[in-house]
This record gives sequence, C-alpha cells and structure tokens, in this order.
Amino acid sequence: MTSIPQPEALRPVSWAGTAVRLLDQNRLPHEEVYVLLADWRDVASAIRDMTVRGAPAIGVAAAYGLALAAKDAPDASFDSDFEAACREMDSARPTAVNLSWGVRRMRAAAKGLSPAEARVRLLDEACAIEREDIEINRAMGHHGATLLRDGDTVLTHCNAGALATAGFGTALGVLRAARELGKTIRLFADETRPRLQGLRLTAWEMMRDGFDVTVIPDGASGSLMKRGLVSAVLVGADRIAANGDAANKIGTYNLAVVAQRHGVPFYAVAPVSTIDASLSDGDAIPIEERSPTEITWISGQSIGPDDVKVWNPAFDVTPAELITAIVTERGVHRPPYLFT
Ligand code: MRU
Repeated sequence: MTSIPQPEALRPVSWAGTAVRLLDQNRLPHEEVYVLLADWRDVASAIRDMTVRGAPAIGVAAAYGLALAAKDAPDASFDSDFEAACREMDSARPTAVNLSWGVRRMRAAAKGLSPAEARVRLLDEACAIEREDIEINRAMGHHGATLLRDGDTVLTHCNAGALATAGFGTALGVLRAARELGKTIRLFADETRPRLQGLRLTAWEMMRDGFDVTVIPDGASGSLMKRGLVSAVLVGADRIAANGDAANKIGTYNLAVVAQRHGVPFYAVAPVSTIDASLSDGDAIPIEERSPTEITWISGQSIGPDDVKVWNPAFDVTPAELITAIVTERGVHRPPYLFT
C-alpha cells in the first residue's frame, strides 16, 4: 500500500476558547478563512447565510452558539433568554433535522441546572457533540467502505464531506475510510447548482486530500451512468423519515432515478441524528426555499431577464424504494427501512 502524505484534517467548526471558530465556506475554494464568533446571534446568521453548512455541521455550530447564549444570559432572565436563543437557532434553517437535534440536546443538558452550572455544562455538551460527530463519521466510513471495491468510481452530489460535519465527512468519509483500507476510489462530483457545493467544496476538499476528482455539470450524470462509468452513487442526507425517504440537496432525487434506470447502487450516508422517526414518510419533511437570486445571479452579476419567475427549493426527497442502502454509525441498513 502506498502512503500518501495527508494535509491537516479539516475542522470546519470548533471551539476557540471564548468563541466558535468557523471555516467560512462562502469564501472557498479561493480563500481559506476562519471567522471567530463570540455572539450567538452571529452563529445563527452564519447558519442562515451558509458560512457554515451541511446537516451535521450546523448541528454542531448551533450547539456552540447556545453555549455562547448561556454565557451571555444574565442570571435573572437565564431561562427565558436561553429558550429564546434555542428557538431562534432552531429556526435558522428548516430541512436538516440535525439542527433541531442539536438544540434539543442542549436544552436537555441545561435542564434543572442553575445558570452557573448550566453555562459550564452547555460548553461541555457542545464540545462532546463536536467530538462525537467525528467518531460517528469514522464509524459510518468504516461500514460504508465495505460497499466499495478497489478501483470503484463513485458519483456524489453537493458536499457531504468533512466540510459538512465536524470532520471526516459522511458520504465522503466513506471514500476516506476505503482509502485507509487500501482501496483506490475515483470520484465524480456533480457541480450542484445553484450554490455549487460540488465544484467549490467537494472538489476542493477531496483534491486537498489527494483524491482523483472530476466535476460534471448536474445534467451529465445520466450520460455518465449510461456509459457504465459509475460503480455507486453516494450522497449525504439532511433528514430521513421512518420509512427511509431521504431529503438531500436538490437534484439528489433525479440522480436516484437515473441510478435505478442504469442498475447503479444508490447509497445515503448519514448519522442517526439525521433520522426523524416522528415522520412516517418524506412528504412531511419541510423543504427550504431560498432566494431567487441564487439562480438569477452569478458572482454578483444578474444573468437572467429582470423579474423572471424562479422556484428555488434547496432540497428534494428521494423515496426509500430508490435507495439501495442507508449507512449510519450503526451499520448498513437495507430495505424495508423501519427506523424508530
Ligand atoms: O444546503 P447545504 O449546503 O447545507 O446542504 C446540505 C448538504 O450538505 C447536503 O444536502 C448533504 O448532502 C447532506 S449534509 C452531509
């Protein structure tokens, strides 16, 4: 096995003593800039404007944001101030359930404690959430790597890598784990219109780690699969219903349909915290709609007719019947999915 020298592992969300440290994903790939946020409201804004993005990463960022909110809340109004911060953080983005999961976990950690005790406990809890996320990703990587053979070519969508988590990644963590086992895996990445997470983030992070990456326009995935050039599709997820229906970046559903047409296995890789067993199927998953300017403007330049109508859903739901397996830290789950 050849050993490839690796750059320092990416830590997109971490604690820096008195502030949360975020890798500003809106400035990648050309600038690798970290921002320090000491006010919880700035953390909520960073989640909204996608300075930090990716389901697990926003859960971790929200947890640190709430530790900051607790630090600033005066004793006299601690409970109501902390609850107001929980609510605002929870509503920063609607689809990825890891955000509410992180907020719920922080609320539970503070329960019954005095303000002084809660401040200490909440920071410990946020650090634990970050640490556990990396461990969970490694476990998912280990399970997912059993699905890949040496020489396979994987197609992915959006960014489900280290950048979308506290580190290592979900779908892209599987490629890292496969490489640790000595398997050589090539990657195709959809560019992922309109925010271009595939081009700007996935390509950057995987090239940084020495992977062979080729970016394709979203519409090319069908031709690629028809030519027999894809061994497996691996994506992340933002929310998975009890029956296995999985919400992920817009365009994932199209990919799953085409994968089935060509007999290519389609795997979703996500932690148990992404499963929302309160929803029996994917129909009730809230889908974020974002600004029309994400479609009509590129690099500060308007490229469409003025006032053109736009529909810009950020996510879609892939029905469970199109998903060959779902990988979590607990293992490889096959249909029928019955998450509880
Ligand atoms: O809108 P984003 O960039 O926050 O999208 C979330 C995602 O990164 C993807 O949907 C991803 O595949 C799931 S999160 C690992």
